[in-house]
Amino acid sequence: MKIDPWSSSTYQDYARLRDEFGIEAFTEQEWKHLPNPHRLLRRGVVFGQRDFHLINKAIQQQSPWAILTGLMPSGKMHLGHKMIIDEVIYYQSIGADIFIAVADIESYGTRGYTLKQTKTLAVEEYIKNYIALGLKPKNCHIYFQSKNQDVKDLSILLGKKVNWSQMTATYGFNGQTNMTHVFSPLIQTGDILHVQLEKYGGIRPVLVPVGVDQDPHIRLSRDIAKSHRLYNVMKTKDGKIGVFVKPDDGVEELLDNAEELLKMSDFTNLKRITDYKAIYVQDATEQQIDAIDQLLAYSEPKFDGYGFIAPSATFHRFMTGLTGEKMSSSKPESAIFLTDTPAEAKKKIMHAKTGGKVSLEEQKRDGGNPDDCMIYELFLYHLIEDDSELQEIYSSCRNGERMCGHCKKQAAERMSEILEDIAKKRDAADNKIDQYVK
Ligand code: TRP
Ligand code: SF4
Repeated sequence: MKIDPWSSSTYQDYARLRDEFGIEAFTEQEWKHLPNPHRLLRRGVVFGQRDFHLINKAIQQQSPWAILTGLMPSGKMHLGHKMIIDEVIYYQSIGADIFIAVADIESYGTRGYTLKQTKTLAVEEYIKNYIALGLKPKNCHIYFQSKNQDVKDLSILLGKKVNWSQMTATYGFNGQTNMTHVFSPLIQTGDILHVQLEKYGGIRPVLVPVGVDQDPHIRLSRDIAKSHRLYNVMKTKDGKIGVFVKPDDGVEELLDNAEELLKMSDFTNLKRITDYKAIYVQDATEQQIDAIDQLLAYSEPKFDGYGFIAPSATFHRFMTGLTGEKMSSSKPESAIFLTDTPAEAKKKIMHAKTGGKVSLEEQKRDGGNPDDCMIYELFLYHLIEDDSELQEIYSSCRNGERMCGHCKKQAAERMSEILEDIAKKRDAADNKIDQYVK
């Protein structure tokens, strides 16, 4: 199995995908300590994560952390795209700095848009809707890849630690792939890591919420972040916690620095073995590895390093299209666009695939199947906030009390309220764009 970020495949078996790529599960453990956990987190829509514990810890300790995500301007914004921004708005409400990359270079390189077209699309379709959905200007930075010199510089410099065979193995590039496309994962790495540069708030945990198709980019960014580190903190085979210096130059200085920092953090039982470029922290436990790693990361810029903390990620499921296939901008009947009128949305909802039975009698007798129903999915992802109300819909469908016609009407009504509200706020967003895009 391979994840291709540019293909249109759908993923059915999320648990298998997770296990195959070493993504961790996102369970109640992860969300239960968050303030007012968002419905997408509570309901298993966000199903996987990498290093989410770093984010949880930053939230609990009220230390700085940031969100970075990106949008690829191509086609119209639909409910599937809305999911990410719903998640981002939630994180903004609990104190994260927000960065949003407009992937105009990627869109240019992989989808064939001009930069001018991507700009119009990004503003009209995405940014205005983001504002309408409730994204606030405070601590929020939206930028275009093509306009951000720091992102571009980083992507070129960070590319040093990846080679061509890694790129072809990960992405299947070949002799025909154009170079802007080839370069786009490195630019995305630049997006993800640049927020830890001094100028953008410095070294800190960063969460990247994405669809699971983006995992190859997440792995690449994490690998690159780690390979540029000057220190590596790990548990050795014989169970000791060791700090290892990675470069071969300046080893003494780096060891001195680590020793000093460790002592200041009350680790006293240190054993330094300069030949191994190592300090064993004999009074540290495995649980303290992250803290030691961060402590050392902060000091790396003094030695010309970046000190990037490997970015964390959450992965959400995709929405199924209303027709039962993939939700896609190129199939308008499969998706509800945020610019649809209530009447257009209603029509799509009325034609949607449900988990209902062929006849009313049969449905009353055997019940419907909400687990395979696009209307239920709309409720779950977007339309119903209250968990007990959702639960009620689920069970009344299962036990045959609820009929699809009624259900669709209910969905259409709620959808229309949301769309009207967004339309109103979108019009008002026109003159606010400058507060977000600098
Ligand atoms: N590649 C992403 C997409 O296809 C867009 C993107 C660009 C992105 N940079 C990013 C996503 C950084 C997350 C983080 O939608
Ligand atoms: Fe779906 Fe509602 Fe029909 Fe159940 S009753 S299958 S939830 S549309």
